[in-house]
Amino acid sequence: MSQDWFAEIKRLIEEINSFQITDAAALEDFRLKYLGTKNQIKGYFAQIAKVPNEQKKEYGQLVNEAKTIAELKFENHTHFKQSEKKTAQKISDYSLPPIEKANGTRHPISIVLDRIVSIFTKIGFEVVEDLEIEDEWHNFTALNTPADHPARDMQDTYYLRDFSDLLLRTHTSSVQSRFMTKNQPPIRILAPGKVYRNETISARSHCQFHQVEGLYIDKHISMADLKQTLLFFAKEMFGPDVKIRLRPSYFPFTEPSAEMDIYWGLKDETDHRITKGTGWLEILGCGMVDPAVLDNCGIDSKTYSGFAFGMGIERQAMLLYKIPDIRYYFENDIRFLKQF
Ligand code: PHE
Repeated sequence: MSQDWFAEIKRLIEEINSFQITDAAALEDFRLKYLGTKNQIKGYFAQIAKVPNEQKKEYGQLVNEAKTIAELKFENHTHFKQSEKKTAQKISDYSLPPIEKANGTRHPISIVLDRIVSIFTKIGFEVVEDLEIEDEWHNFTALNTPADHPARDMQDTYYLRDFSDLLLRTHTSSVQSRFMTKNQPPIRILAPGKVYRNETISARSHCQFHQVEGLYIDKHISMADLKQTLLFFAKEMFGPDVKIRLRPSYFPFTEPSAEMDIYWGLKDETDHRITKGTGWLEILGCGMVDPAVLDNCGIDSKTYSGFAFGMGIERQAMLLYKIPDIRYYFENDIRFLKQF
């Protein structure tokens, strides 16, 4: 037999069975494809002439079966057509205002994340995403934070109950170690994503939030590059008159380390817990990648250096949209979400 007639017809039946009819338009597509005047099943009937005589009977039965399945399926979904007709009939008075469509809106976190990504892609950063359930090595150990290091307490961690080595990543810095173990410099990446910490929920902090990690590794990268990159970012994000400050800080994976604050001011502050009455709001941690981290990940720290930063998205959306409380992002209150 030159052709497997049965495999072909069975494929058609499968196609008919798996066709998703979810609305009136899909129902019409289905009708045109399998029941209309130029439907596909007709082609299969026409082919019967080519089927060897001894197989004609079985083949004919299968094509008939395909037709019946298509007809039944169509019948079972005609309610889509009817419901459309009903709405068409309902609009009998065209002077009435139109029925409002409940369109969704973008979440403020997505809007701000897109802006961050577009600013950094302008200066050559490439977006990389990785795991939310991490192992201790990538989240801590590779980042110069061994098991007995007190800095592990800086970030209260959710471990997976039955896998003591696995955790919900506490920061997007885990993407740094994942990327560096697989790639050699030059590296210029931006890693956005969700992070989790067992923190008391308040106006300023939550147990889940979003970060964007930046990592730039190459020859001769200095703190000056880091400062200029962050200043460029802040101006693009908050306008040319933005006020920023870098405060010395500590992270096990960077040396020296700093935190960057943006001036939010006190007159707009609806809730003084946000800046604790200072007017300044911290939006990121940063620093020069500790040479030990490069070596842990297989990058020669004698040849290469670089900087990293990790910024919170919620905080920045708070500044941009004057959102007084971080909890609003996760409560799915339509009155809040509709405003963006
Ligand atoms: N991972 C740090 C945090 O979540 C932020 C950070 C990233 C600091 C990169 C320095 C360098 O707090």
